[in-house]
Amino acid sequence: MNTRAATHDASATSTPFVHEGIAYGCDYNPEQWGPEVWAEDVLLMREAGVDLVAINIFGWSHIEPRPGEYDFDRLDTIIELLHAHGIRINLGTGTSSPPPWLTTLHPEILPIVEDGTTRYPGGRQAWCPSSPVFREHALALVEKVAERYGRHPAIALWHVSNELGCHNALCYCDDTAGAFRVWLQARYGTIDAVNTAWGTSFWSQRYGAWDEILTPRLTLSSRNPGQVLDFHRFSSDELLDYYRRETAVLRRHSRVAVTTNFMVTAHIRNMDYWTWAPEVDIVANDHYLDHRLAEPATELAFAADLTRGLAQGKPWLLMEQAAGSVNWQPHNLAKAPGEMTRNSLTHVARGADGICFFQWRASLQGSEKFHSALVPHAGTDTVLWREVVALGETLDRLAEVTGSTVVADAAIIFSWESWWAGDGETRPSQSVRYLEQVHAVYAALHNLGVTVDIVAPGTDLSRYRLVVAPALHLVSDADAQTLNDYVTAGGHALVTFFSGIVDENDRVRPGGYPGAFREMLGITVEEFSPLLPGQVLTLDSGAAASLWSERLRSTGAEVMASYLDGPLPGVPAITRNRRGEGEAWYLATALESGDLIDLMRTICRQARVTAVGPEGDGTIEVVRRVGAKATYRFVINHGAEDVDLPAEGRELVTGQTVSRVVRVPAGTVRVIREDLAS
Ligand code: GAL
Repeated sequence: MNTRAATHDASATSTPFVHEGIAYGCDYNPEQWGPEVWAEDVLLMREAGVDLVAINIFGWSHIEPRPGEYDFDRLDTIIELLHAHGIRINLGTGTSSPPPWLTTLHPEILPIVEDGTTRYPGGRQAWCPSSPVFREHALALVEKVAERYGRHPAIALWHVSNELGCHNALCYCDDTAGAFRVWLQARYGTIDAVNTAWGTSFWSQRYGAWDEILTPRLTLSSRNPGQVLDFHRFSSDELLDYYRRETAVLRRHSRVAVTTNFMVTAHIRNMDYWTWAPEVDIVANDHYLDHRLAEPATELAFAADLTRGLAQGKPWLLMEQAAGSVNWQPHNLAKAPGEMTRNSLTHVARGADGICFFQWRASLQGSEKFHSALVPHAGTDTVLWREVVALGETLDRLAEVTGSTVVADAAIIFSWESWWAGDGETRPSQSVRYLEQVHAVYAALHNLGVTVDIVAPGTDLSRYRLVVAPALHLVSDADAQTLNDYVTAGGHALVTFFSGIVDENDRVRPGGYPGAFREMLGITVEEFSPLLPGQVLTLDSGAAASLWSERLRSTGAEVMASYLDGPLPGVPAITRNRRGEGEAWYLATALESGDLIDLMRTICRQARVTAVGPEGDGTIEVVRRVGAKATYRFVINHGAEDVDLPAEGRELVTGQTVSRVVRVPAGTVRVIREDLAS
């Protein structure tokens, strides 16, 4: 079968994902247990209120134990058992990890990493996304699963593969090189156009024929950045193409909504989910708190807001999170009592209509035996289990929130392409990292109590009072123009350093940085002057700056602060330019967090951005979801002190009516329904 030639049947439409109330679910791996445990599992699921269970995620070696020989007995039993207990199914296509017989018969499907070595079976996701052999076998499996269960009344959602690209996004094998060339031909048409896009006149890299182009395996020196950037684009597209192939098979047999779980997290960056999101029937994300970050809870809020952005503001699903610790960080911290509930309701506050976990019952064997689960090793007489049951009750009480949306005054422009280009191998400072710069501006707005939408470059910005473009290194002329038009029409923008430097081919815009935004900002930068780690400069505003400085000149902008010391004393570090009806600010350095908050506060005031929550250190988080008849104000207290906030309406978690003030005890969440005047 020529899998690559299979077409997406656009005429077949799916039904949207529909669920009563907020979905409460988990991954369930019954293959790891026997029937007595399954019987207990469904009863416990009922006790907790779990109503959406993902199965068959890693099922392949069980349901196709030998090539072309299928055994669905166990899966049939599990599906009927769940169905009999009223538990809906998020059915995995089962293709995420190939069985040993397949990698034994066809070792050519194994991924090759950038040093040219093979990654072997024994872990998971040991397949090359471009492998025609893998695709043929995987799609044959999907066909069987879809034929068998496509019309089963318990199936609520299709779960394509699992976390596509978690481990295998970038494969450097020969099959991939062939697919990369086809992708390049479609993008550029001619080899000359590739040469131009990649700037191959440099270092004698000029290509004369398509076959000379390889995947960007490790080189002695640094690699061609244009080639690396396009390889990222291609690799994201290639997995998306694979998603489409599975979806096309499912559509032939089923009208049920299809999705796959994204990984909007701090440590995975290989998929450009702006291109993926329009292709899933509902956006679903996996999120794990990352204790390697300074502010894990703020990153959680950012990831939830970005997921909402991918969903175009519509409700989305949290497909996985951990009930307690994970097992894959250097130090896997347990969650404090109440933390799992707070995290879950933070996702709901920011637009999730479903809260699911990895996984139902803690494994006794395998790499994840020390990963938490809803049913821990210690069983149900535990603090964790009681919280699991209580969360189910809380989600039930919040049922009416589903379908409501979050409204924000401010937006941050976020770009995976810019992440790939800006964090490239050779850059002015290895200490400048895209995501850290994004997180810094997000954290400042978060601490000011401002709700933020995260948007793609080129998004219509007219509904926002403030738009921030942090370190938007790569930007096309058209997308830069969107921001420019927004400002001219009366918008307020803040652009931070290293933005607007290169076009979509990673080519520097000459004539002074930041080329794409120079005019809008009323400045020009002659030279970058990065700082050494630990070096802290002072501005004449009193603010502390680090990481970066640049030889900047105003060509019309008002200078708001300049360096007192460092390599560029007297040179502007913060500017503001009136342009058309609006204003564009520029921040040419990294401010210490308190100083960044001060700057952001000033800009927010001028832009008349409304804060939904109180200003603070992020301990009290407030977000509002707006429904047809009411708004829902979520107050999340991450701190150790009770807080009182003005409120009027019904509090949904406790079911009490509040008048004038709501008390939010330490570590808890309250959701106040404020009825809209009819
Ligand atoms: C995800 C994955 C799950 C499980 C989880 C552990 O990456 O989808 O299968 O491995 O992480 O945190």
